[in-house]
Amino acid sequence: MDASNDVILRVDHLSAFYGGIRAVDDISFYVKRGEIVAMLGANGAGKSTLLKCLSGEHKPSAGEIIFDGQPLPAHCHQIVERGISIVPEGRQIFYKLTVLENLKIGCCQRKDKAGIRKDLEMVFDLFPRLEERKNQLGALLSGGEQQMLAVARGLMARPKMLMLDEPSLGLAPIIVNQIMENLKSIAEGGTTILLVEQNAIKALDLCDRAYILNVGRIVMDDIGKKLLANEKLLHAYLG
Ligand SMILES: Nc1ncnc2c1ncn2[C@@H]1O[C@H](COP(=O)(O)OP(=O)(O)O)[C@@H](O)[C@H]1O
Ligand SMILES: [Mg+2]
Repeated sequence: MDASNDVILRVDHLSAFYGGIRAVDDISFYVKRGEIVAMLGANGAGKSTLLKCLSGEHKPSAGEIIFDGQPLPAHCHQIVERGISIVPEGRQIFYKLTVLENLKIGCCQRKDKAGIRKDLEMVFDLFPRLEERKNQLGALLSGGEQQMLAVARGLMARPKMLMLDEPSLGLAPIIVNQIMENLKSIAEGGTTILLVEQNAIKALDLCDRAYILNVGRIVMDDIGKKLLANEKLLHAYLG
């Protein structure tokens, strides 16, 4: 596997359990700087568990994770400091806080006030709807706006790599397209993206490379567009 500096994330032989259930089974993969990599698989494939291992929320039982040239620290806040943010499954924004307050939570570990102000401008440029609604409560946002807020909150930590867990889930196709376009802009801005999705078609269309997960194991990987052309594979693993 490529150990050079252009690999930002290298995962080697990672396994993770819940009691006796092996959710992630000896997974190895890499992500290069600036890439959009998709991790695709049906419900229960182990996608969320994999991201939880990378965000410090779940402790792997075996394997090695090297991020930006060093082993991944153990705790969530250290991982955020090292440059990984997660946009969790189901958005998990705070309904009783305003848009602005939700965004401030995303940068609560930062002290560089000028940088924070700049990043706030950056996320409002990316998501003008959020600026319009910055003083509204999270609960009053539409599903699409909540997803935008979750992505924006992730960006407020100024990550080197942004990980997203099924950002398209439950959203109308037109909103999904918009979110995918947003992810493209984020990657063009230099942030690496690791995208977990069940929506294989959209993710393959967007990503540079993809891995297919089946019952905790990587069963295939290739350039996104090549996998997109392989209908049999898509039906076999992704339904
Ligand atoms: N908190 C949990 N406790 C026990 N088993 C879990 C838990 N979370 C997930 N699992 C199991 O781990 C496997 C992988 O789940 P998950 O990582 O959520 O998959 P995906 O995100 O691809 O749907 C599934 O068999 C699921 O039932
Ligand atoms: Mg999941």
